[in-house]
Amino acid sequence: MTPGLAALIRPHLVAEVVERLARDEVLVVHGVDVGMFSDVPFLASLPALLGSWPDVVHVHLPDVADEASSVTASPRDAQRMFASGMGLLFDEAQRYAPQLVPWLDAIRGDLGLSALTQQRCLVYATPAGKGTAAHFDHNVNFVLQLSGTKAWKLASNTHVERPMTRHTMRQSVDPELQTYAHLPMPEAMPAELVEVVLEAGSFLVVPRGTWHSTHATTDAVSLNFTFTPPTWIDLFTAALRSRLAMSSDWRETAAPHAVATFEALLRDLADDAQHWNAVDILAATEP
Ligand SMILES: [Fe+2]
Repeated sequence: MTPGLAALIRPHLVAEVVERLARDEVLVVHGVDVGMFSDVPFLASLPALLGSWPDVVHVHLPDVADEASSVTASPRDAQRMFASGMGLLFDEAQRYAPQLVPWLDAIRGDLGLSALTQQRCLVYATPAGKGTAAHFDHNVNFVLQLSGTKAWKLASNTHVERPMTRHTMRQSVDPELQTYAHLPMPEAMPAELVEVVLEAGSFLVVPRGTWHSTHATTDAVSLNFTFTPPTWIDLFTAALRSRLAMSSDWRETAAPHAVATFEALLRDLADDAQHWNAVDILAATEP
């Protein structure tokens, strides 16, 4: 099986996923052969995962049922917490299963995302009757259900376009997010939503910023491919910083009373910036 989006979305085409993501549209595909990940032994079952996971497990506490309220635990303790109804997150699974890295790289390539994209695999184990509180993420998420049944509610986000952080309903709003979101944030899922039920072999594409909540009807395990691409802000500020770092004047300790000095630096920068171009900046940020 060649790693990449094509293997996960048959009979849909990669171009359709790219178009849907651009329009913030969800896509769900059923009947994907989860056997293509049989070379990752810990994905075989939750006991296999708990039995061989070499790191701590993130446990979502029952108060919020979201990563906004979680603790870390040993796999042994996590097993008990799962049995008492708490969801588990196994983070950065590609670190312990390098077979997943070509999948991340290929999907990132399929989507045409920057080399500076943060990408990772997450494995979620959700006990029957539990799920996640309504929230949106700032990343693009691809969910492959490995076992069990999990219902998702998804809705368009009319409160913020292109968020740069996540937000869980009824939790405090990140200070920067407050500056560009339409507040107040809703406290319940929008009435206009879609419901999808994921079974083993279902694959769900969740665009950045989409509201979603989940509810597992049986114990459920899913493998997520998650991508956080840089924004133009990220590319530009990275390039700007490396440019300014070469200047002793800009490296001077900032003294808030030295207004004229700072003003002169800004004027110089404005002159210099006229000669910058996108090709040069991208050449520096996209190896
Ligand atoms: Fe999420």
